[in-house]
Amino acid sequence: MQETSRRHTAKGKSIGFVPTMGALHDGHLSLIRRSKDENDIVVASVFVNPMQFGPNEDFDRYPRDIEGDREKLEKSGADVLFIPEAKMIYPQGFATRVHVDALSERLCGAFRPGHFSGVATVVCKLLNIARPTRAYFGQKDFQQTVVIRRMAEDLNIGVDIVVCPTVREPGGLAMSSRNAYLGAEERKAAGAINGALQAAASVLRSASGTVPEAVSAMKSVLDKEQLISEIQYAGVYDPLTLSEAADEGKEKLIAVAVKIGRTRLIDNILI
Ligand code: PAJ
Repeated sequence: MQETSRRHTAKGKSIGFVPTMGALHDGHLSLIRRSKDENDIVVASVFVNPMQFGPNEDFDRYPRDIEGDREKLEKSGADVLFIPEAKMIYPQGFATRVHVDALSERLCGAFRPGHFSGVATVVCKLLNIARPTRAYFGQKDFQQTVVIRRMAEDLNIGVDIVVCPTVREPGGLAMSSRNAYLGAEERKAAGAINGALQAAASVLRSASGTVPEAVSAMKSVLDKEQLISEIQYAGVYDPLTLSEAADEGKEKLIAVAVKIGRTRLIDNILI
């Protein structure tokens, strides 16, 4: 992969890189298309990264469909598909970890200890292997984009990090490989996630709406949904620091993480 990348770069070609864990849907493919628009060569990777899954998480049952992925990538215009094996990414003796302080501990980090070090480590490695001009990530995983930007800047990776809008199902549910775990009733219930984000946004957009009012509007939408088994967080945050937002100030991140049955789902919007 490094050699392929070097060859293209030597010819003056720009490389756009889209790292994924596969089971690709239109959210992923929107990143491929954006990358195709902005670069000469598009590289996609599919690697279900064991380091970013906790011991009781869904690594073993994470959906895998490499043949389907290959077809979708080809149709969307990807030029190179990189599918490393775990023993290649983490050979015997592997001992280095990339940890982004503070940002990794907030929001999802509080419920998934070690998750963002797993993400930062593998993305750092993938960027060093693929050596792209630009790398593309979805706003769907907002905290991930903040952690990766910080890592890339702190470690002088020299790659432009591009964040692309969240692609949604017609009902508003954010596309996710994990939506495949949901039964029909659960999928309907998951509509409450975007409903809660919209409820908070409409409070904050009104002239007198405060952050606490927005948070309680969100929680009341989520509380009404019987199939939501746990609300991990639902709040309004500063998009730069991920700490709780004050009423004054500019852009705000409205973000939610819930469990529906055993399935953990996240979503967010910026206003
Ligand atoms: P994965 O969940 O497969 O997502 C790959 C990329 O697709 C991420 O940047 C994610 O934010 C983006 N994405 C997912 N759903 C999206 C949607 N509905 N709209 C727009 N973009 C969406 O995120 C990961 O994999 C991994 O953590 C990875 C970065 C590959 C490191 O292992």
